[in-house]
Amino acid sequence: MKHFLSVNEVTNLADLVTSALAYKADPFKDNHLGYRKRLGMLFLNPSMRTRISTQIAAKNLGMDAVVFNVGQDGWTLEFEDEAIMSGTTVEHVKEAAPVLGKYFDILGVRTFPSLKNKEEDYSELYIHQFIKYAGVPILSLESSTLHPMQSLTDIITIQEVFKEKRKPKIVLTWAPHVKALPQCVANSFAQWITAWGDAEFVITHPEDYELDNRFTNSAAITHNQNEALKDADFVYVKNWSTYTDYGKIYCNDPTWMLTQEKLAATKNAKVMHCLPVRRNVELSDEILDGANSLVVQQAGNRVWAAQAVLAELLKSI
Ligand code: CP
Repeated sequence: MKHFLSVNEVTNLADLVTSALAYKADPFKDNHLGYRKRLGMLFLNPSMRTRISTQIAAKNLGMDAVVFNVGQDGWTLEFEDEAIMSGTTVEHVKEAAPVLGKYFDILGVRTFPSLKNKEEDYSELYIHQFIKYAGVPILSLESSTLHPMQSLTDIITIQEVFKEKRKPKIVLTWAPHVKALPQCVANSFAQWITAWGDAEFVITHPEDYELDNRFTNSAAITHNQNEALKDADFVYVKNWSTYTDYGKIYCNDPTWMLTQEKLAATKNAKVMHCLPVRRNVELSDEILDGANSLVVQQAGNRVWAAQAVLAELLKSI
């Protein structure tokens, strides 16, 4: 694997999941794979899980990991080619990326979308400029449109939990939120679950919240949440802002929040969320504090997803 930006870089998803679960069983079995290799992790936005789990994963493989909070501590970066830098940006990615490529063997990058300009966000300019100029493998720690490490974690968690000899029914449901959020977790989850192919997959959201069909692929899509939830084995809860009329909040109907009462229609479904979660806005206390919630197990599995991906990147350098 040369870079890790989406499921498209994964040659065998089943093997990657198996590798992650093997690291969970024996975290230090490859603790020389990253000997004398350094991982740089650039955060243009806040993070708790991605930052810490990826650092732990790197250390388990014997790597050094250095975190740089660009958004907080660094010079403001310019990403547009031929920009006249007379505004607020101080350093161009054309210098910053190759300099970081001299310091690190692998470079992780975390960016968010503007949610103002769909074409610009969906072009993934930031991460592609790092690929163009850094000269080392780029690891997405969440980009404008996708969150691949989260989605790999989600599949690891589903496989770990679901032991029946049939395909699980997985429902991705939109949830209310107070802010306009990116589509990346939902896009990415849809992209990975449809590529995995080992599930009946349904997406449910209010009208006007359609996701980009480049990511939803073969998923069934309905505006009827109660119908979607019937017989579900897993319910993945996530808010996203509108995609078509980009970055808006059209609906904040609190009845879209998943409750214990709604779960009654499912097959005692396990409930997933990438975190952080707004309690009693996106998900009720009763679910988050109850036996059906997988959110902590899921966040714990971020380490093993990161370790499996870093191992693949290390093998290619
Ligand atoms: N789920 C996730 O990426 O969490 P952080 O934003 O805390 O990294």
